[in-house]
Amino acid sequence: MLLAALLLFTLALSATSSKVTYDGRAIIIDGKHKLLVSGSIHYPRSTAEMWPDLMKKSREGGLDAIETYVFWNAHEPARRQYDFSGNLDLVRFLKTIQEEGLYAVLRIGPYVCAEWNYGGFPVWLHNMPGIQMRTDNDVFKNEMQNFTTLIVDMVKKENLFASQGGPVILAQIENEYGNVMSSYGDEGKAYMNWCANMAQSLDIGVPWIMCQQNDAPEPIISTCNGWYCDQYQPPRSNIPKMWTENWTGWYKNWGGKDPHRTAEDLAFAVARFYQLGGTFQNYYMYHGGTNFGRSAGGPYITTSYDYDAPLDEYGNLNQPKWGHLKQLHDLLHSMEDTLTTGNVSYVDLGDSAFGTIYSKDGGSSCFLANVDSGNDKTINFQGMNYTVPAWSVSILPDCQNVAYNTAKVSTQTSVMVKKANVAEEEPNSLKWSWRPEMNEKTILLGKGDVTTDQILDQKEAANDLSDYLFYITSLDLKKDDPVWSHNMTLRVKSSGQILHAFVNGELIGSQWAKNGGERFVFEQNVKLNHKKNTISLLSATVGLTNYGAFFETAPSGITGPVELIGYRGDDETIVKDLSSQKWSYKTGLEGLNQKLYSSPSLKWQQDSFPVNRTLTWYKSSFKAPLGTDPVVVDLLGMGKGLAWVNGNSIGRYWPSFIAEGDCKLEPCDYRGSYDSNKCLSNCGRPSQRWYHVPRSFLNGNGDNTLVLFEEFGGNPSSVNFQTVAVGSACINAEENRKIELSCQGRQISAVKFASFGNPQGSCGSFVKGYCEGSKDASSVVEKACVGQESCTIDVSEDTFGSTTCGDDVIKTLAVEAIC
Ligand code: GAL
Repeated sequence: MLLAALLLFTLALSATSSKVTYDGRAIIIDGKHKLLVSGSIHYPRSTAEMWPDLMKKSREGGLDAIETYVFWNAHEPARRQYDFSGNLDLVRFLKTIQEEGLYAVLRIGPYVCAEWNYGGFPVWLHNMPGIQMRTDNDVFKNEMQNFTTLIVDMVKKENLFASQGGPVILAQIENEYGNVMSSYGDEGKAYMNWCANMAQSLDIGVPWIMCQQNDAPEPIISTCNGWYCDQYQPPRSNIPKMWTENWTGWYKNWGGKDPHRTAEDLAFAVARFYQLGGTFQNYYMYHGGTNFGRSAGGPYITTSYDYDAPLDEYGNLNQPKWGHLKQLHDLLHSMEDTLTTGNVSYVDLGDSAFGTIYSKDGGSSCFLANVDSGNDKTINFQGMNYTVPAWSVSILPDCQNVAYNTAKVSTQTSVMVKKANVAEEEPNSLKWSWRPEMNEKTILLGKGDVTTDQILDQKEAANDLSDYLFYITSLDLKKDDPVWSHNMTLRVKSSGQILHAFVNGELIGSQWAKNGGERFVFEQNVKLNHKKNTISLLSATVGLTNYGAFFETAPSGITGPVELIGYRGDDETIVKDLSSQKWSYKTGLEGLNQKLYSSPSLKWQQDSFPVNRTLTWYKSSFKAPLGTDPVVVDLLGMGKGLAWVNGNSIGRYWPSFIAEGDCKLEPCDYRGSYDSNKCLSNCGRPSQRWYHVPRSFLNGNGDNTLVLFEEFGGNPSSVNFQTVAVGSACINAEENRKIELSCQGRQISAVKFASFGNPQGSCGSFVKGYCEGSKDASSVVEKACVGQESCTIDVSEDTFGSTTCGDDVIKTLAVEAIC
């Protein structure tokens, strides 16, 4: 009886659990070779309420798996105190992936990079005696093993590894250590091997991977990261060619421009990868999301982590990227068996043209690439001529007919618009109350919490509990002090990123790092007394460094020296170094410590409303915009600071920081290798003006509270809430295909332009060409689409009537529809 029950139990288990192995071609799940397409979504960069929709759109986009890092500093903010609540609920995230029928790739790290504060390391770790990070150091290894084991045990307990019936098919240890390992000498190599052994010993039943780690020992799989990985060769013949980070765009810095990687180039990179034997590819990011709270790293990473990913920051489809890739994924999946187990032959067709033939059981599938970045080509392949545009791949699932070309986009371009808040009874402008940041004690009297006789690194003194740290010293300047003159300056060397200097309670100046958050020197005139003077320097960090060998030791805050400089006559300067005076430190701000962003009982005033005042708190109430479209707050007019909605931090804001430099005037050319300096936009405008307010932070009916802490001085009078939706949808597609036009949840209201023939231009500026179909294209499209949420159109002469374009013109349909 007992035996029978045991047998049943084992059977039940084996019916649901999957065995995950691999060979030199692919990841094998339950004996089947898989062609896997995956996408990164980081759970803390969205909210738990957004996850089901993000997963649904990922699956519909043709993904098999979701990849995420695990964020150590978010989960263990203080040593052995853990947080897995709200958007940190890793188990719920993995279950949401599973519910959508997707696999998961769990990149535990626990060093993650990711433009995340301090690369995911908790700062308390750095402050442990004797520690050296990411090397053969017992203190570090012990902490890393403790956290990694905690995560593995948590995932195991919930049966979330595929070996237990769960979605997790792969796990990652460390992150791109191979890029920096040589800086750590022999100890680096020893640490890498320790990581591998430690991971293996956790017995998770699915393979471990290490990215950018070609010397990863058996059985760990080394994988590739980059904008292109087609040329990457796995270091051992028994591991599959895998790409853990295909960068779909790039991240943004304060003061930086908006990055954009075209759908054509991204699809090209993916198609080339599968053409050259790749079988697992992951988009980094598929949904970038938002750096809420103080999670942005850097330094100087913006609150938005949109990344120009296929799903935008708010979770909307970023079209045409999402749809162009979906078509590619669907096609690749239809060839899965041949691609992962068939015979492969590569043909160099000369003149930058390359063919690949995958064949199995008498059938075959082919890829034809033109990697010339300037010229379209007619390529003779297996006896037939094919025209392949520059920098593109054509896919021929039967080795004869082209089903897809990476440079021919037939998916709509969606132009997203921001709409005014249409909540009922919402006045035109918000009503504000305010409070000064009450740091008088600290600023005037110089009262700190800790005192030393040196200048401390900010992360060491503040332990990352706040962006803000006061460095305070007092100075008794005698009349006969050599530095004394009528003309003195205070000079402060800072490693970033912002400094507000007060002398005897008065602000003498503020300064911030201009170039990517690097060091700067502050120097201002000061008036001092002959008695006691108080110098209070408020330093603010904007994300701690997250990348590079020994990144964790990168200096932060005021690094000194702090000097007083006296000038006598024209050429005599006397420098008095204040660095080894008594300094006292105070972490945070009064308002932060009092939780001004969530305490309803505290008094706020309405009269003598200040604008452009430093260190000022503002508060307003507002009604949530109606509907379900994502919500943003427009903070134009504000300087720099922190924002909360109903007590939830929506991140740092800095709309006064303008994206400087030139955005190239010529249109973005998809051809040629992409890098983060290509196809930039938004020059001359705030690097980030709009800030995401997830719907789950809002009370649908009733009042909501917005609190802003403003550092430099700003004017909140034009702050307002908006929703983001598709404003118009454009198509420019070749004939003989079916296209879909959609307003993504709202109705198509009008057709602004439609022409079938040889129309020219791009979305928003289409013009008719010299030939057109005999039917009125606008009426045809109106009839099919207006009043619908989406519509399908057959792009052909059947639909639009015959044309006089001639046979050598490839006819296209261009449409601009208004949502
Ligand atoms: C990689 C790193 C990622 C991310 C990416 C850039 O080197 O592994 O975590 O930082 O660069 O977005």
